[in-house]
Amino acid sequence: GAISRFPLIELKGVPLRNYIVQNWSSISAFEPDPTDLLIATYPKAGTTWAQEIVDLLLHNGDSEACKRGPTVDRFPFLEIQYPPPIPSGLDLLKKMKPPRFIKTHLPIQLVPEGFWKHKCKVIYVARNAKDNLVSYYHFHRMNKAQPDPGTWDEYIQNFMRGKLAWGSWYDHVKGYWKEREKKNILYLFYEDMKENPRQAVEQIMRYLDLSVSEEVIEKIVQLTSFNSMKDNPMANYTFIPKIMFDHSVSAFMRKGEVGDWTNHFTPAQSQVFDEDYVRQMADVDMPFRTSL
Ligand code: PPS
Repeated sequence: GAISRFPLIELKGVPLRNYIVQNWSSISAFEPDPTDLLIATYPKAGTTWAQEIVDLLLHNGDSEACKRGPTVDRFPFLEIQYPPPIPSGLDLLKKMKPPRFIKTHLPIQLVPEGFWKHKCKVIYVARNAKDNLVSYYHFHRMNKAQPDPGTWDEYIQNFMRGKLAWGSWYDHVKGYWKEREKKNILYLFYEDMKENPRQAVEQIMRYLDLSVSEEVIEKIVQLTSFNSMKDNPMANYTFIPKIMFDHSVSAFMRKGEVGDWTNHFTPAQSQVFDEDYVRQMADVDMPFRTSL
């Protein structure tokens, strides 16, 4: 069909789906409004979770208001491009008035200049490499727009070499980390969010210059738990047609846990990964210095 397994093409050294590269000039020229908010992540790091927290905070915890549409409509995906007539992220953005909540998986060096020029707020979520890899692997299996994942072992190799769609996880998390202070990026970790979801909601609230009651914060924590979101048809991605996302292969809301990598990596695979990891992360001082 029209949406099947888009091949990747490199753009400035970053592998991206062919349609994104073909439409790159319009994507990179996108002019946001200063009030627009960007949520940036490597794929499968906790995007949807952060999106739901943001939307609920901006709607003072009104869960019905946040069910006005599926995640993909509430948060246009900046660079997403499909064969016509499927609307692109830019098509959706054109129809919406600022302030808009925009999703991107682009590494920082590919984020359109306009976001920095207008000093837009940017929330970044990073997830530990091995769990991020596991989640992305299952996503490749169920999302027919992604290239075939190959074998599990090949997949690990491709992740380590930065050959997956949206490029190297290592460059991605490091790139935003290095710029976070200069560019006033709120840099969050999936693991911290799991450990203390209330703190995550409060951090995002303060970053967005919002103030909601204690009661509403608690409500948002409940509404954005994995189990609540898994059952929320406007947040669990069951709204994507089955020809694209096959939830019978693997659910989008799959497990939502920290440490699922231990159920996937053999000790040998883990050792090779850890050794390479230390090399790839040596040039940055951040909490992800080791993959453990
Ligand atoms: S995407 O396609 O890049 O937008 O996907 P993304 O939302 O970044 O990542 C999907 C993974 O995040 C998990 N998830 C959650 N974990 C904890 N709490 C909440 N509320 C939550 N919502 C989504 C989702 O289950 C995917 O991770 P895995 O490990 O595959 O379960």
